[in-house]
Amino acid sequence: MEIYRKDYTIKDVQDVYDGPGGLLWEAVMGEQIHSGGPEATDVLAKKLGLKPGMVVADLCSALGAPARHLASKYGVYVKGVDATKTMLKKAIERTKAAKLEHMIEYYEGNVMDLPFKSNSIDVVWGQEAWCYVTDKERLLREAYRVLKPGGKIGFTDWIITGKISQKELEPLYDSMAFPYMESFEGYQALMKKVGFKVLEAIDNTEAFAKHFDQYYEMVTVKMKPDILKNFGPDLYSFAENLVTIWRKAAHNHQVGSGLFIGQKP
Ligand SMILES: C[S@@+](CC[C@H](N)C(=O)[O-])C[C@H]1O[C@@H](n2cnc3c(N)ncnc32)[C@H](O)[C@@H]1O
Repeated sequence: MEIYRKDYTIKDVQDVYDGPGGLLWEAVMGEQIHSGGPEATDVLAKKLGLKPGMVVADLCSALGAPARHLASKYGVYVKGVDATKTMLKKAIERTKAAKLEHMIEYYEGNVMDLPFKSNSIDVVWGQEAWCYVTDKERLLREAYRVLKPGGKIGFTDWIITGKISQKELEPLYDSMAFPYMESFEGYQALMKKVGFKVLEAIDNTEAFAKHFDQYYEMVTVKMKPDILKNFGPDLYSFAENLVTIWRKAAHNHQVGSGLFIGQKP
């Protein structure tokens, strides 16, 4: 299947997360900005067999909430990479407040060019963010390079899970500033292409659709007055449209989320 792309760049992503979009996402999804919150983080952590002392690179670490969760619950050292200054600033402040700065370091940068030496990382980690990355093969190649032999990659992401036309994808991408999404099969093919052994791939679209039911309810009912008051009518309309179209596409099993585990031989 030919991949449909839009011309969104890292600058568009930074504009979202430096602006009110980041605050809105946190208000709707929680400090761990991915569907399923801390429970989803535990699922991935257990599948990856995190052990105290391991070094985990969280690619697109945002507010650092998953990093703090992993450091405090599993005793791992986390190196978070993110491209957006506002997210990094908040991540650093909240990590200091949680007294976890001896376990977590943050790096500003694009995850397509990692600031880590080759063969230096035990686990590469990502949660629902690589959909913003313009070249996912390059990202996976970098992940492979930095992992120690035998090291694992584990990530979740928003993906294409069914038949969907360009006309249907365009408003979904526009609502999120996504350059493109990988498909369930596409991610596995890319993982294999760069050298990973694929250990597990799970299509979580049904759960994703249920999460979107909740986000729809929150945006259009429970949080509507607050969003209107704090963010204004334009951002409210934008958010209402976003949750409406994503919820519909998820229930149609056209888009959803996937979980992938791989290993560097
Ligand atoms: C949905 S949030 C990530 C959520 C986070 N993984 C979590 O679970 O809490 C998206 C984040 O990805 C970052 N991001 C997107 N594309 C990036 C890239 N190419 N390099 C580095 N960071 C990127 C954004 O700055 C933003 O903070």
